[in-house]
Amino acid sequence: MAPVSAMCSRFMSPRKILVTSALPYANAPLHLGHMLEQVQADIWVRFQRSRGHQCRYVCADDAHGTAIMLSAEKNGVSPETHIANIKALHEADSAGFGISFDNYYSTHSPENRAWSETIFRRLEANGHIAVRSVVQAFDEAKGLFLADRFIKGGCPKCKTPDQYGDNCEACGATYSPTEVLDPVSALSGTTPVERASDHLFFQLSAFQALLADWVDGGHLQVPIANKLREWIDAGLQDWDISRDAPYFGFEIPGYPDKYFYVWLDAPIGYIASHQNLCDRNGDDFDSYWQPGHDTELYHFIGKDIINFHGLFWPAMLASAGLRQPDAIFAHGFLTVDGTKMSKSRGTFIMASTYLEHLNAEYLRYYFAAKLSPNVDDMDLNLEDFVQRVNSDLVGKVVNIASRCAGFLRKRYDNRLSAVCSEPELIDGMISAGDSIAALYEARDFQRAMREIIALADRANQFIDDKKPWLLAKEEGREKDVQDACSVGINCFRVLMTYLKPVLPDMAEKSEAFLGLSLDWTALTSPLEDHTIDNFSPLIQRVDPESIAAMVDASKA
Ligand code: 2FM
Ligand code: ZN
Repeated sequence: MAPVSAMCSRFMSPRKILVTSALPYANAPLHLGHMLEQVQADIWVRFQRSRGHQCRYVCADDAHGTAIMLSAEKNGVSPETHIANIKALHEADSAGFGISFDNYYSTHSPENRAWSETIFRRLEANGHIAVRSVVQAFDEAKGLFLADRFIKGGCPKCKTPDQYGDNCEACGATYSPTEVLDPVSALSGTTPVERASDHLFFQLSAFQALLADWVDGGHLQVPIANKLREWIDAGLQDWDISRDAPYFGFEIPGYPDKYFYVWLDAPIGYIASHQNLCDRNGDDFDSYWQPGHDTELYHFIGKDIINFHGLFWPAMLASAGLRQPDAIFAHGFLTVDGTKMSKSRGTFIMASTYLEHLNAEYLRYYFAAKLSPNVDDMDLNLEDFVQRVNSDLVGKVVNIASRCAGFLRKRYDNRLSAVCSEPELIDGMISAGDSIAALYEARDFQRAMREIIALADRANQFIDDKKPWLLAKEEGREKDVQDACSVGINCFRVLMTYLKPVLPDMAEKSEAFLGLSLDWTALTSPLEDHTIDNFSPLIQRVDPESIAAMVDASKA
């Protein structure tokens, strides 16, 4: 967890923070569920940077596995071409949403191969790898051992039908595909036969005590820690980390025709992406991954993949002699208009479809306005989305600038008053920054946005009270008009500084308008005797027709 002193960042040396979000599979375009996670992580990362910390954000495509091998085959291209094509799409989508990755890499990389082999060799040298013959489902029609996800059937724990072969969406149980009830191959529809083959296992059971401590160590949200504790108390199963050829991945050193299971080298992809970054920018890689340094490591993930990040990953890191994450930040699922995203309703919205119709900053703001540190699911209610963005961003925040800028341009050559006439109002807004920062730090973006919008209400109230449009008509009130509008612009500057992690594009336009950089650490006193630029609209109102068009396009 972040050190308590993180709250007083002004008085301490910059923190060195490494953030990751889950690596998307290189098999399908990103949808708004992916964007929820990337936006959440990006806001936190941009917040940390705005407070003067060094915060690196790395991610990658998760490029291995049977699914990707089969998709490539279906498209008539090599897996390498397939993953390169998808990676380009993913990068464009993330860039479209303003995600400020320092590196976006691929798990199919030389660094990841090297780290996967190194970590595996350490696990093996420590006696944490066992080889056992496993009877597995084999699809005779396709000539393949079936990856867990290609077997469907009933959950062995709760009996819910039509679950994947490795975990149950209904009760959260994880299990082996051979335990699934009435299995069928999702590839050929045939009933798989059983066939024996040697598999490599990571002995998770050896980490029972370590994981019990870790789960109690304050690195996880409470409901997540409780869930993991339940699994630990039930006894940890060894984890099958090998797959037989044919498989798209890395061959396991010393075990011909055996490949690392995609979930073994996926989290190692965090290390590999970061190493690739450090090799290019000169950051000290070892200080992030060797134990005993004051760097911080955080993983943003969805709650569905907590077993990998909360159990397997810390155990692998421990055996390999690498540092543990400081925290894992899990989020809930995204629903649209109250239900699971659905293709037939047009609510299974791809990131690129959204971007064709709507400004990314609308959604960044909407997510921020609803994100909390807990793991509850989040609903994107499309009506509420229009209403909230138009009311808060356009009607409240931008309104402050647009109400004041015209007078300053026409009458004062865009010059702010030499002395701020309401220093207490501005100082109050600046000192609210500490509690807003604490909310950002705690990923309580919902409450941070509420506080910021409450400050915007205060600023609008001030302008309503002063009525510069009336003062402008009165004789001898010249200075009062300039003073009132200068105070408004000062409020806008403070508010946009606080909103910059959420709205990078609008912040950039505001910087051009204000003629300064919106720097949280430089927010100490009002702007006086300062010249701004002409105001031009910073964001348009959301047009409900664009929403309808996006939903239509998502049905296609
Ligand atoms: O669930 C997924 O989409 C995985 N591709 C996430 C991997 S995260 C990390 F472990 F690499
Ligand atoms: Zn179940």
